[in-house]
Amino acid sequence: MKEVKKAVIPVAGFGTRFLPATKATPKEMMPIVDKPIIQYIVEEAVSSGIDTIIFVTGRHKRAIEDHFDYAPDLEHTLEKAGKIELLELIREVSNLANFVYVRQKEQLGLGHAILTAEHVIGDEPFAVMLGDELIINQEEPGLKQLIDVYKKFGKSVLGTTEVPKEETYKYGIVEGSLIEDSIRLVNYMVEKPAPEEAPSTSAIIGRYVLTPKIFDALKRTPFGKGGELQLTDALMTLRQEEVIYSKDIVGKRHDTGNKIGYIKAIVDFALEREDTSEFMKNLILEKAKKLNEKVQD
Ligand code: G1P
Repeated sequence: MKEVKKAVIPVAGFGTRFLPATKATPKEMMPIVDKPIIQYIVEEAVSSGIDTIIFVTGRHKRAIEDHFDYAPDLEHTLEKAGKIELLELIREVSNLANFVYVRQKEQLGLGHAILTAEHVIGDEPFAVMLGDELIINQEEPGLKQLIDVYKKFGKSVLGTTEVPKEETYKYGIVEGSLIEDSIRLVNYMVEKPAPEEAPSTSAIIGRYVLTPKIFDALKRTPFGKGGELQLTDALMTLRQEEVIYSKDIVGKRHDTGNKIGYIKAIVDFALEREDTSEFMKNLILEKAKKLNEKVQD
């Protein structure tokens, strides 16, 4: 069985929810404290055994390429100033993996973005990771949990989690038969159903391991919701030919694709980091006290 060594990360989107911040800066480069969101995703991939990252990019995304490249002038300045720790910190970023950039000329949906990477993937199983979702699990990275299921069954695996019924319209929703703890054999999938039409509350959360057969399935799938080529629809096409599994991912999940989720992620990370946790705790306590006083007035 071929190993999962490549991950496709689509990053061509405009990030309109974060304008004006994303007018000239890719949304993937927005930091959680001091590390861009996209670096967390790449680190999860690498610690899951991935060695090649394929970014499906668009216009105005050059900052991502620069972030994962050497920065000779900055490195030289840091070296001269004796800031060796910082020098190593930025060097490590470019040495994380092999990086490949494929340009998605028009934005026709997630399925279309994946299809754009076909010639780089070839005939291998591969991962897809969506940049809006951060999954934090130091012991067992989110993607690794899916790769382990792939190793067992040799078929596509979708990362899922339970969501509240009223939120099904935000996700691809999966209906499946539980075959072992947290692993399902997928019977049916639908992209962003209204709560009353959702077949379950098991939502796809931006991590996939796919067999290369998905490319043919994508080519045979008509454009769907929002006039876009949907990966979920293509997975339903693939489902006619080979079985697909889903696995509930264990870990803390942050949806950084919207303002509230982004703010929550920053607060959470700041509470956990050694250099900021004390300050953050005091700040929260102080604010809570003031709010309480206001309520009592
Ligand atoms: C995409 C997928 C959807 C999935 C979601 C997870 O939607 O199409 O099936 O549940 O990512 O974040 P998007 O959020 O890009 O609209």
